Amino acid sequence: MTRSIKDPYIDYTHRYFRAWLPVYDLFGILIGSAYRRAAKTIATRAGVTVLDICTGTGEIALRCARAGATVTGVDVTEEMLQQAQEKARRKRAAVQFSTMDARHLAFPDNVFDVAVLSLALHDMPAKVRLQVVQEAARVAKERLVILDYDLPRGKRLRRLALSFLMLFETPYLIDFSKKGVLPVLESAGLSSVAIRHCPFSFFTVYEVTLPTTSG
Ligand SMILES: C[S@@+](CC[C@H](N)C(=O)[O-])C[C@H]1O[C@@H](n2cnc3c(N)ncnc32)[C@H](O)[C@@H]1O
Repeated sequence: MTRSIKDPYIDYTHRYFRAWLPVYDLFGILIGSAYRRAAKTIATRAGVTVLDICTGTGEIALRCARAGATVTGVDVTEEMLQQAQEKARRKRAAVQFSTMDARHLAFPDNVFDVAVLSLALHDMPAKVRLQVVQEAARVAKERLVILDYDLPRGKRLRRLALSFLMLFETPYLIDFSKKGVLPVLESAGLSSVAIRHCPFSFFTVYEVTLPTTSG
């Protein structure tokens, strides 16, 4: 089911990712070790059910499927999903892909073991980040795994890193880089977080244990 609320952020997202699509997977090669670390955190056992939200060209979804997870990938940009489907065919990985707005996931509560947001939150306005994290936590029952930028703390190094990243990133990264992932988790009422920095990179994996819903 597709439900996308039209707004300037979604229009911008479509334009931006359509433009970068031809080279998007080259970026994936450069950050292969961060993807590996995230996939290892997500696919902890065979048959674990995973929703990869904002799956893009499906890099994390395919890695998890190949590790034995049962994976669904959703994204709001159809062209990214077409590339994901093509990659899944080539790599013989079984992933179910659907076009969907992450703010309104067409799934019942607590239906997946793990929800994933890989390199997604930094491409959204702050208000959307919170909505998307809340939706991710709603549809998952065990864990939420987030892979995203975590820029150096030192002012000078941070400014340098940001100037480089802004050559190709969306303007939403500027606000995201000031706040990071933890405040949005806190606003969503999620406090049980294991943090794993990816060595020699600007990336961190956040593994959130979701509160039990049993009572
Ligand atoms: C930087 S890409 C990340 C893709 C992939 N998860 C990865 O790790 O390579 C961000 C993706 O988020 C998608 N996206 C942004 N806002 C979205 C929303 N509200 N709902 C669904 N997808 C969204 C974009 O279309 C894009 O494919």
